[in-house]
Amino acid sequence: MTATAGASRATISVLASEHVAVRALLEELARAEGRGDREGASAVLSASGELLGAGLDAHIGLEDDVLFPAIAEELGAAMVDSFRAEHREIERLRDAVVVAARRGDLDGAPLEELCERLGGHMQREDELLFPAAIGLLEDRGEGEGAAS
Ligand SMILES: [Fe+2]
Repeated sequence: MTATAGASRATISVLASEHVAVRALLEELARAEGRGDREGASAVLSASGELLGAGLDAHIGLEDDVLFPAIAEELGAAMVDSFRAEHREIERLRDAVVVAARRGDLDGAPLEELCERLGGHMQREDELLFPAAIGLLEDRGEGEGAAS
């Protein structure tokens, strides 16, 4: 069994759907931050802790362990290396923001950086990486009839 066997249209569909949910959360956080409402931002974070916590960990794990190896196998590791590095940076920023929010001293700078980094990362995945993965599946005749 090759690494590509684990990646499917359904996998990519799940990942893309999760991006929609995370993007909505980031927009909510950015609105609170734009108002200078740190308490509001902390409340948004605590109300959606699983989305940026265990949910984000699982999402990143699915990309790192299933999707990226499949893409690297066909297109080379260089195609996914920068995305992997961004995951580590996103995890670091997310952890810092969550800890600060729990302590009640959330600062705007790391929150803004998390929103920018995570938003840009997801956009590059949606516009570059996921279409490339779908193209690989289509090349193997697996692009039709699966989840969209
Ligand atoms: Fe990612």
